[in-house]
Amino acid sequence: MVDKRIDPEKTALSVGDVAKRSGIKVSTVHYYDAEGLITSWRNHGNQRRFSRDVLRRVALIKIAQRVGISLEEIRQALSVLPHHRTPSKSDWQALSNQWRISLDDQIGRLMKLRNQMDECIGCGCLSLGQCPLRNPGDIQAHD
Ligand code: FES
Repeated sequence: MVDKRIDPEKTALSVGDVAKRSGIKVSTVHYYDAEGLITSWRNHGNQRRFSRDVLRRVALIKIAQRVGISLEEIRQALSVLPHHRTPSKSDWQALSNQWRISLDDQIGRLMKLRNQMDECIGCGCLSLGQCPLRNPGDIQAHD
């Protein structure tokens, strides 16, 4: 009978492997590890090792960062995924739905800012009483 268990040491990736296969710097791998976004262990030679699922986690982190998701939001989202399990299609759907809400909020704030800038183009007054960029919450109106 064949033993189907996989020895994690035999399939583990080094820091350099993760960096190379993910297209990121070694220092970024260490950073993600230190921030708890990915996990590692030390082998018998005291070298850091990563399970192969880390490649999909890093891919997820890179995509999320590219679309402007904060590291804290990424950390929270990844914290619900079991370690040493590759994020599944349903994991990705849940994460992308959650991040879509955050992106919609960011887009809304940026559109508002752009519209406020339209009012300022060619003006330059930067008046607390008049300028929506200088006084975005219209704080002066409530004084
Ligand atoms: S600079 Fe004048 S309204 Fe903003």
